Amino acid sequence: MRKNSINYFPYNFMQKILIANWKMNLDVEKSLNLAKQYKKNLRTLKGLELVVAPSIPLIIPIKDIFGSAKISLSGQNVAAFSEGAYTGEVSAKMLKQIGCGYSLVGHSERRQHLVEADEMIHKKIVQSYAAGITPVLCVGESLKEKESGGRDAVIINQLQRALSKVEALPDKEIIIAYEPVWAIGTGVSVEREDLIHVERIIKRALSSLYSENFYNEKVSLLYGGSVNSVNVSVFWGIDKLAGFLVGTSSLEANEFLKIAIQMK
Ligand code: PGA
Repeated sequence: MRKNSINYFPYNFMQKILIANWKMNLDVEKSLNLAKQYKKNLRTLKGLELVVAPSIPLIIPIKDIFGSAKISLSGQNVAAFSEGAYTGEVSAKMLKQIGCGYSLVGHSERRQHLVEADEMIHKKIVQSYAAGITPVLCVGESLKEKESGGRDAVIINQLQRALSKVEALPDKEIIIAYEPVWAIGTGVSVEREDLIHVERIIKRALSSLYSENFYNEKVSLLYGGSVNSVNVSVFWGIDKLAGFLVGTSSLEANEFLKIAIQMK
């Protein structure tokens, strides 16, 4: 075990948070180069929890690159099981051991392409807490669901199925990322008014699942879906919005920095 392998920077809840989801967009060399640029560009930013979610094999070398820079790491995914014969999976415990403080759970690309269902997402949340990792639960409706007027019900269902009967809650923090599927990687983002509405839906769902206190004190809300340095100011300042989950615009260090600067 590496000496400083568990020194991630625990997220102080209620602070601003910006997560870079690199997905599987870059190869090894490009990922390491981007990590170096992040370190150079982002190390002086204060008062903002910066989190990078690279592909699993890159987490350890990127942690070494970041060194003492206050940039945290997240898994893009986590296993639904604690350990055992699950070929190809990476446990929450291992993520924690290599320095991750977070894991994305239930990203729509996994729901869509890897047939990740609510039951599995629920288990991933449970595993994350058991290992001391803060889950970033992604929820959001597809275009079809939006157009048929089903958005609110979809979000409520996803939250209920993922989070009901999670023993660790309501005592633990959670990050909820509202990511409408139709906004991811499309260049089309949500309207400010719609985001304000969805915040209220999420508040109602989590308050009835646990309590309003839980929502106020333990839940951080992010928006994700075609966020960039031009449209970030449209959303920033919405009550309860703690930050963003950024894909495409995180693949360029300068663009990502421009987003971060506007959150100060
Ligand atoms: P995007 O991706 O910023 O490219 O829309 C966001 C995400 O999938 O987390």
